[in-house]
Amino acid sequence: MASLDLQAVHDEMVAVAYEAGRMILAANPADLDTGTKLNSVDIVTEADRAVEKMISTRLSTSFPSVSFMGEETYQPGMRLGPEPTFVVDPIDGTTNFVHGFPNACVSLGLAVSRAPAVGVIYNPWQDVLFTAIKGKGAHMTRIKGSAPRKLPLAKSPRPLHGLATCLVAVEWGSGRDGPNFELKTDVFRKLAASRETGGSMVHSLRSLGSAALNMAAVAAGQMDAYWEGGCWAWDVCAGWCLLEEAGGVMVSGNPGDWHPELESRVYLAVRGAPEGQRELVEEFWGVVGDRKMDYSI
Ligand code: IPD
Repeated sequence: MASLDLQAVHDEMVAVAYEAGRMILAANPADLDTGTKLNSVDIVTEADRAVEKMISTRLSTSFPSVSFMGEETYQPGMRLGPEPTFVVDPIDGTTNFVHGFPNACVSLGLAVSRAPAVGVIYNPWQDVLFTAIKGKGAHMTRIKGSAPRKLPLAKSPRPLHGLATCLVAVEWGSGRDGPNFELKTDVFRKLAASRETGGSMVHSLRSLGSAALNMAAVAAGQMDAYWEGGCWAWDVCAGWCLLEEAGGVMVSGNPGDWHPELESRVYLAVRGAPEGQRELVEEFWGVVGDRKMDYSI
């Protein structure tokens, strides 16, 4: 295959993201047929399916040689290959969407050799667009047509001084029992608890309800770290590209793996900083201890 023009892919993804945003805003979740996948909190709506259909049609028409993996058309056993692949979540934050909580987005990633190469995330309620191309930096545009700002937003990002000074994103996910759930809730408690009781006493924990928006916030430097197990390649591909281009790092949410795969389903994202990134990862892994989240696919 002739080499793919990443700028052209990015430009089309941005146009598609704005169209997806219009569709999402036009859909009234109260009028939609809402179903579930794994259990009662793993929600899908007809809007998720319609938006993914529009995205796959447009992207496949513009770039017929690029493969496509989307949340709503994923079949168990499908794996990302080394060939260029669009990795797409039509509505990331579906739970927020069905509740009318205005924090969800369309997340469009391009993976090449199973690594993020382009990322576009758009939250239509706030009209905030995040974009990145590998090697060309990451940007945020608040209100369509205004000048993009480079990420991270701070001109001189502050060093990281350990968990006790951090704002950390976590998510509950859809698994609500078993060892993964026990580990997650224990880590949440330890992150929040006072130093006197053996906790890290982070500044606070946040759950934006969308993996992509959590990652965009870490890339922007608005949050310091994001830890999650259970989300999928389409939840993180675009955000991962933003994060790396903004100087952040993605490691495994399970201790020890500095180079996780896109499909590993267990992640820890840390913002860009002149010092303290490696130490923060090690401190976080210390909170997780010798346990591991397991989401084998
Ligand atoms: C979910 C959201 C959520 C995360 C889950 C994802 P969806 O994606 O990103 O924040 O905790 O792991 O599956 O279902 O809203 O597309």
